[in-house]
Amino acid sequence: MKYEKQIRQNDPFETWRVTHPWTVDLYENALTSIAGGVGHDLRRGEPLPTYIQRASGSRKWDVDDHEFIDYGMGNAALLLGHAPAEVLRAINRALESGFHYGNDHPLQVEWAELIQALVPAAERIRFVNSGSEASMLALRVARAFTKKTKSLRFEGHFSGWHDGVGKGAMLPFQDTVSAGIPQGTLDTIVIIPADLNVLEETLKRDSDIAVVMLEPSGASWGTVPLTVEFNRELRRITQEYGVVLVFDEVITGFRYAPGGYQEFSGVTPDLALLGKIVAGGMPGGALVGRADIMQVFDYTGDPQHDRYGRVHHLGTFNANPLSAAAGIATLKRVATGLPHAQADRMAALLRQGMDDILYQENVAGYVYGDVSIFHVFLEAHPGSGATHRSKLVTTDAAKLKGIPATVVSAFQRALRTRGVDLLSYTGGVVSAAHTETDIRRTLEIFHEAIRTIVQERIVARLGAG
Ligand SMILES: Cc1ncc(COP(=O)(O)O)c(C=O)c1O
Repeated sequence: MKYEKQIRQNDPFETWRVTHPWTVDLYENALTSIAGGVGHDLRRGEPLPTYIQRASGSRKWDVDDHEFIDYGMGNAALLLGHAPAEVLRAINRALESGFHYGNDHPLQVEWAELIQALVPAAERIRFVNSGSEASMLALRVARAFTKKTKSLRFEGHFSGWHDGVGKGAMLPFQDTVSAGIPQGTLDTIVIIPADLNVLEETLKRDSDIAVVMLEPSGASWGTVPLTVEFNRELRRITQEYGVVLVFDEVITGFRYAPGGYQEFSGVTPDLALLGKIVAGGMPGGALVGRADIMQVFDYTGDPQHDRYGRVHHLGTFNANPLSAAAGIATLKRVATGLPHAQADRMAALLRQGMDDILYQENVAGYVYGDVSIFHVFLEAHPGSGATHRSKLVTTDAAKLKGIPATVVSAFQRALRTRGVDLLSYTGGVVSAAHTETDIRRTLEIFHEAIRTIVQERIVARLGAG
C-alpha cells in the first residue's frame, strides 16, 4: 500500500489516467516486461506509447477508443490503407492451407515474378524478412561480388538497424548509432556528405570500397531530398569506379511509381532493397538485382566455390506463405498505378494545405515531399532563412534532420492528442484509402496544433524577435 501511495503521489501520467486509462495501465506493465518499454525505439511516444487495437482504411483506434487519421500506415508498409479487403482475402486463403512450411512454395515464385515485372533492377530476387535483412544481405553480396570490404553511405541515410550500417543515420553522422557495435565493423563504414565531388575524391583515394548504398529520394525517406540528376550522376560514377550501387527502396519501392524510385527516375541500380509494401504489410523483404551479381547465391557443383565462393543465406521464415499472399495481392493493385494516383493527389492537397497554414500563421517552416510523402520543416529559432510556401531553402542534412527533439515531440503530441498520427519525425505517408474528408479534418487539426506549439513557444513566428 505504501508503494502504491508513493506512485500516485509522483504520478507522471496523472492527467492521462482519465483520458487514456488502459494505455497507462499497459505501459506501466510493459515497463516491467518489455525491455526499454516498447518494441521499437521510435514507438516511445510522448509521454506514452500508443497501443492500437484495430485499424481500417485511413484510420486506427487505440485501446482507449481514440480515433486517429493515420499517416504512419504501418511504418509506410500500407500503400492501400489498413486491412484492404483483397489483401485480407488473400491472407485468409493462404492461412487455410497452413501458414508456414519451411519449404519453397508456388506463391513465392509468383511473388518473385511480379516483382521482376515491376522493378527494373530485379533480374533476380532473394526473399528476406525485413528491410534490415535486405540491407545486411546487400552488403554481403556486394563484398562477395567485388572482393572489396567497405561500404559508403551519405550523411543521414538510414538503411536498417544492423551493425553494418552502424553509423551515418543519426547526428553526429560520424559517430556510432548504438552501443555494442564493434569498432572493426564501424571502420568498414565510410560516411560522406551527399556531394558527388567528395564521392569521386573518396573513391579515387580508397580502392577498397565495394558498395555505395543510399536512400535515392534522400536521407530518411526524402527528409533531406536528393534529385534525380544526383542519382543519374551517381550511377555514372559508381560504374566508372566499379562500385556496386544499391538503392534502398524500402520506403520508395512501389511508392514513387509501381517500379519504385528506379522507374520514377529512370536510374537503375545494381541492387535494390525492398521491404514494407513488397509484402503488403506482412513481415517481409527482398534483395533484388542484376543477374550476374545475384549469381553469388548459385551453387556450381565445384566444392571449393560452393564452400568459399558463394554467399551463404538462410532464414526460417524467408518468403513465408502469408507474406507472399499479401505481397501478391498488393503488388497486383500496385501494378495498375491507381493507388498511387489517389495517394499522391491526397498528399499534394495535404502538403499545399499545411503550407498555406504555416504561411497564414507566419511560422518559420515549410512543407515538402514527393508523391505520397510529406515532410514539415519547423524552425525552432527563426533567423537562418526558413521561409514557407514549400520552398526548400536548405539541403543541409544536419539542419533538416536536426530539428530539436523538443520541437519534434511537441509537434507530434499536438497532432496525436487531436487525432492525427505521423510516420516519424515531422512527416508521414498518405495511402490510397485517404479521402478528401480525411485531408480536410487533418488540416483543421494541423492548424490547431501549429497554434498550440506557437503558444507554447516551441516554434516562433517569422520576424518575432
Ligand atoms: C529506408 C529504410 N531502409 C531500411 C529500413 C529497415 O527496414 P525494417 O524496419 O523492415 O528492418 C527502413 C525502415 O524504416 C527504412 O526506412
